Amino acid sequence: MHVITRIEELRKELSELEGAAPTAKDLMRGVCQLLHERMLKYSWVGFYMLEPGAKPPVLILGEFVGAMTPHTRIPLNQGICGSAASSGKTIVVDDVSKDPRYLACSLETKSEIVVPIFVSGQVVGELDIDSHFPAAFATEDQNLIQYCAEIVGRKLEKTALRA
Ligand code: SME
Repeated sequence: MHVITRIEELRKELSELEGAAPTAKDLMRGVCQLLHERMLKYSWVGFYMLEPGAKPPVLILGEFVGAMTPHTRIPLNQGICGSAASSGKTIVVDDVSKDPRYLACSLETKSEIVVPIFVSGQVVGELDIDSHFPAAFATEDQNLIQYCAEIVGRKLEKTALRA
């Protein structure tokens, strides 16, 4: 199947999952599973969420699919993850060996994308994806991953409103 068609199919399933998942945690688990299973170049898919009230702020590893990572707590001044959370901007790294911010999770990782998640305009966490292939994240991948971050942000907002 052509990659664009595959992404369109996946978006439909993600949208259904958004409606069906009872909690943000369920949605995050489903997003990890779907992206890892369907997008063949995504070798590690996971969420890092800001620890509520932590000073200084720190990202905590949440739901993920892939090999265990040594980076379970990442301060905002470290890693590509820290940069994405502190800037509130998507970061795409085509060759991690050339980025001095990079914190290694697996020796096989060649490229990475980190997309922040917002609730009420504030960064609350991020979706991080690693690939064993260089430059694995084209524009259509970025749009798909940003969509995943949006649906999780929406779910977190709704859950918080209900709490
Ligand atoms: N590479 C990330 C650390 C997380 S692992 O990839 C899962 C970074 O540089 O922040």
